[in-house]
Amino acid sequence: MTRYEQLLTELPTSPRTWLVTGVAGFIGSNLLETLLKLEQRVVGLDNFATGHQRNLDEVQSLVTPEQWARFKFIKGDIRNLEDCQQACAGVDYVLHEAALGSVPRSINDPITTNSANIDGFLNMLVAARDAQVKSFTYAASSSTYGDHPGLPKVEDIIGKPLSPYAVTKYVNELYADVFARCYGFTTIGLRYFNVFGKRQDPDGAYAAVIPKWTAAMINGDDVFINGDGETSRDFCFIENTVQANLLAATATDEAARNQVYNVAVSGRTTLNTLFDELKSALGTNRIIYDKAPVYREFRAGDVRHSQADISKIQRLLGYAPQYDIKNGIEKAIPWYMAKLN
Ligand SMILES: NC(=O)c1ccc[n+]([C@@H]2O[C@H](COP(=O)([O-])OP(=O)(O)OC[C@H]3O[C@@H](n4cnc5c(N)ncnc54)[C@H](O)[C@@H]3O)[C@@H](O)[C@H]2O)c1
Repeated sequence: MTRYEQLLTELPTSPRTWLVTGVAGFIGSNLLETLLKLEQRVVGLDNFATGHQRNLDEVQSLVTPEQWARFKFIKGDIRNLEDCQQACAGVDYVLHEAALGSVPRSINDPITTNSANIDGFLNMLVAARDAQVKSFTYAASSSTYGDHPGLPKVEDIIGKPLSPYAVTKYVNELYADVFARCYGFTTIGLRYFNVFGKRQDPDGAYAAVIPKWTAAMINGDDVFINGDGETSRDFCFIENTVQANLLAATATDEAARNQVYNVAVSGRTTLNTLFDELKSALGTNRIIYDKAPVYREFRAGDVRHSQADISKIQRLLGYAPQYDIKNGIEKAIPWYMAKLN
């Protein structure tokens, strides 16, 4: 039995209280769904900057009324310390997901990204420390590897940040580390590598590549590839990310706490291959996309290649990803078809 399987058996028998910030977003709403299905009590905080009420409504439709009754939603902003304090009261574990994602957004508007991702992060750390939560797990990012060319990426070897977004995520790690040193507070940073799955927003200028291309293919629109298509990523299905969060939050081994971990599958898929994979998965679902991709300029701030070494999280947290990109896409596609068709 893996540590995660053990946890899934154990949690329903001893429910805890979890705070999920960014709960109306993609990753937050998936964490909410899993936790409620495990009979946990969940407090959610979101200001709907990029998240949606429809994500919460969908989770409600997927759990029982009794499970939904264990969820308390606070519409609030992490840039406001009082909202963070209210959200942290009586909480065992914090899963801090709220932030403004997207490298291009941060290049267009570094001030707004900074205030949510750094000021908001610090508010959450202070509020969680004062509420004496058992652990504070937060969404870090593979963008922290910046311009370092080494592959696969190992946690303690990073380069210079390539975007304001990457700066904010690196500063999160520095603050978390300092809170461990100065206040004996437990934090765990999870460097996500291109997470994908249901409820990831396909709309808007800052949409991520998988939902954006899937929607374009379903609608018969052009698919744009930034650069030559040989840029590569370690795409990670949402269920693996949820697993990493639950393992991190509940880790009691001292060696596993106050660490930063890569969360991915250690795969490397180029954008050209991703295009073929999505096209073929849609084809299996009888949606035929027959256009060639449209190549355009490389995008500023993008890391060229990304692939995680996941041995640290496997060793210290017992992480065992259950999905690779292929079976992750197979699970994600029907959701987009149902929503967009
Ligand atoms: N999706 C990925 O591939 C990926 C990769 C690396 C890191 N991350 C990080 O994971 C976290 C979740 O990302 P996601 O993909 O679910 O994005 P998302 O945009 O779907 O979710 C973020 C949520 O945070 C909320 N939020 C933003 N600013 C807020 C504020 N000031 N106060 C309260 N709520 C606020 C948004 O409304 C949204 O619901 C973010 O911290 C992101 O930087 C994501």
